[in-house]
Amino acid sequence: MSNHEQHETKERPVKRSGMSRRQFLSYTLGGAGAFMAAGMSLPMIRFAVDPILAKKAGGTWIKVVEESKLTTEPQEFKFQIHQIDGWYVSDPELTAWISKDDKGTPFALSPVCKHLGCTIGWNTEKNEEYVCPCHGAHYTKDGKNLVVAPKPLDEYDLKVEKGWIYLGPVKANTRV
Ligand code: FES
Repeated sequence: MSNHEQHETKERPVKRSGMSRRQFLSYTLGGAGAFMAAGMSLPMIRFAVDPILAKKAGGTWIKVVEESKLTTEPQEFKFQIHQIDGWYVSDPELTAWISKDDKGTPFALSPVCKHLGCTIGWNTEKNEEYVCPCHGAHYTKDGKNLVVAPKPLDEYDLKVEKGWIYLGPVKANTRV
């Protein structure tokens, strides 16, 4: 066996049994890099999600209709909201079906069908129910799901102030 072969034979077990210099450096530098990346990215993440958090913190009320215009028969009202979704600002038009219950309490329902999201209409089949034209979901006047849809219609937060109806965010139905 030559000197050169002997040298290789002796060195191989040493390399296999321990961490090489290259591995040590890559672990150390990799760890430091990840730590620095986390330090830089956490403030950036916070910067990016701040508006989203802010939106959830405060509710906006939109003045929609005079209470005196409401009856026990649901009516469709359209209104605009100023929406800030992250950094995207828009003014979409929303719809609410608003009516009074038998005690005279006003309530507002979302028109979005809880089956697959089509737009429902009131009494389109002359049956005093909300009906979805897409796959035939039916709901009572309170929004209770009768067929097809798995859940009741959502409800808007509603308040009355100085004779006006104000609507807030959509929430799960509280009436059924
Ligand atoms: S989306 Fe309304 S019934 Fe399917």
